[in-house]
Amino acid sequence: MQYRVATAGFAAAATDLVLYPVFRKKDAADLGPLSRDLDTAGKRALKSAVTAAGFTAVAEKTLAVHLPGVKAGLVLLVGMGKAKEVGLQTIRNCAGLAARAAVGMKTAKLAAVVPAAKLINFDDHTFARCFAEGCGLATSPVGTLKTGKKKPGLRTVTLLADGSRTRALRAGCAEADANLAGCFFTRELVNLPPNILTPADMAARARRMARREGLRCKVLLPAELKKLNMGGLLGVGQGSTNPPRLIVLEHKAPSGAKAPKIALVGKGITFDTGGISLKPGTGMELMKTDMGGAAAVLGAAVIVARRKLDVNLTVVVPTAENMPDGNAVRPADVITMANGKTVEILNTDAEGRLILGDALWYAGRGKPSTIIDAATLTGACVVALGSHFAGLMGNSGEVIDALRQAGGETFERVWHLPLVDEHRDEVKGTWSDLKNLGKGREAGALTAGAFLQHFVDDETAWAHLDIAGTAWSDGATPTCPKGATGFGARLIARAVELLVG
Ligand code: BES
Ligand code: MN
Ligand code: ZN
Repeated sequence: MQYRVATAGFAAAATDLVLYPVFRKKDAADLGPLSRDLDTAGKRALKSAVTAAGFTAVAEKTLAVHLPGVKAGLVLLVGMGKAKEVGLQTIRNCAGLAARAAVGMKTAKLAAVVPAAKLINFDDHTFARCFAEGCGLATSPVGTLKTGKKKPGLRTVTLLADGSRTRALRAGCAEADANLAGCFFTRELVNLPPNILTPADMAARARRMARREGLRCKVLLPAELKKLNMGGLLGVGQGSTNPPRLIVLEHKAPSGAKAPKIALVGKGITFDTGGISLKPGTGMELMKTDMGGAAAVLGAAVIVARRKLDVNLTVVVPTAENMPDGNAVRPADVITMANGKTVEILNTDAEGRLILGDALWYAGRGKPSTIIDAATLTGACVVALGSHFAGLMGNSGEVIDALRQAGGETFERVWHLPLVDEHRDEVKGTWSDLKNLGKGREAGALTAGAFLQHFVDDETAWAHLDIAGTAWSDGATPTCPKGATGFGARLIARAVELLVG
């Protein structure tokens, strides 16, 4: 999809569908701004359509009307609610609904009137970014593996405003374009089936993406993982005929080596059967999403690269398939991790922390000031927070704050959970340094986070995002079709921007 800015008045815009945001004033639609641009016949038609439909500009309610004197076939009135109550996500949701309506009408071109300056709480750059994001997020492709003719989609979205606003609106659209590219990359990976997206395939896709986006890429094969003593990643992967990989991407800061150094780490289990501690069959297909953390940090890398953020960013993705097999690790096995610590595996289904432990150690070798990891790590986090908030843990107020602010802005919301020394003690082992389970059913998201912290040194600011509940959505929302949400790409990229900015 292409985003454009034009100065045409809405009545003259050459387009199939024109969107007009309508605000609510004293419990009714404020039709003033729109009426001003219409002739008498247009005004009359507008009034009667709005009255007949009982349209009062409640946020996210729409009404399609034919208005005489308007060149576009159809005008879509989009309720925005009260102007002062409009939030960033209101803009995305309204744009998303309109874009979906346009797709439903088989419209290729959508134009949208930008609200008068200062009417809402946001500047033009922000409005354009959220509007374009909403259009893209709502209509991102799914079902790409279906055979037969592809449905034509929305091709262009044009923002209409006077010339003095063009620059800011264009800049907002450009930022949205980068954010969408990252989010779509994440969604695409998470939606792919595990027979296609194997560890080797994910590495190949990361490599192609890196070439496209101007990132450096290195993929470590099992022989190299062995040299690094990555007993966690190799152990988890040893039950599968699809051997593990460690994917490493690098973005160089435009200003050079003095720019801050940040590392991202993402869990890349391409399918999680649970291993010998086999999961129940019902719903196991959802475990194709167990590489959602990997997809999120790879998507974030796309955004950081496209926006040329001034950061030296390293992305580390350990990827493996967790399968039961004669050669698989068993409960009671003790493995040695890359940092030398021994771990007793008490449950082979707590595999994410094992591959992440090795990857966090690898990321730490580059001496970053900050590490952020993302992982579909625990069902316990889903129980605690559900699907609208990711769990957030860490050792640094600054990084936690950046992620919370970024979550509010991107609407990829996070909730800070209290990870303390006691949790770290709860994963200390009897027969080994550590064990991969905490205290029974208690605080499962936190003991998983605490396990990870044993692989990060105290001088490094670190935050962990448990995205088990947020990576996938069983139903469509105004800004996401059913399936992969792309959660994390925009959130993490924005947090990185806040940390280096
Ligand atoms: N991949 C799962 C966690 C998960 C659950 C992701 C639901 C997405 C949706 C993880 O590897 C896992 O199996 N965790 C176990 C840990 C337990 C054995 C300590 C869990 O949450 O049950
Ligand atoms: Mn598991
Ligand atoms: Zn898992």
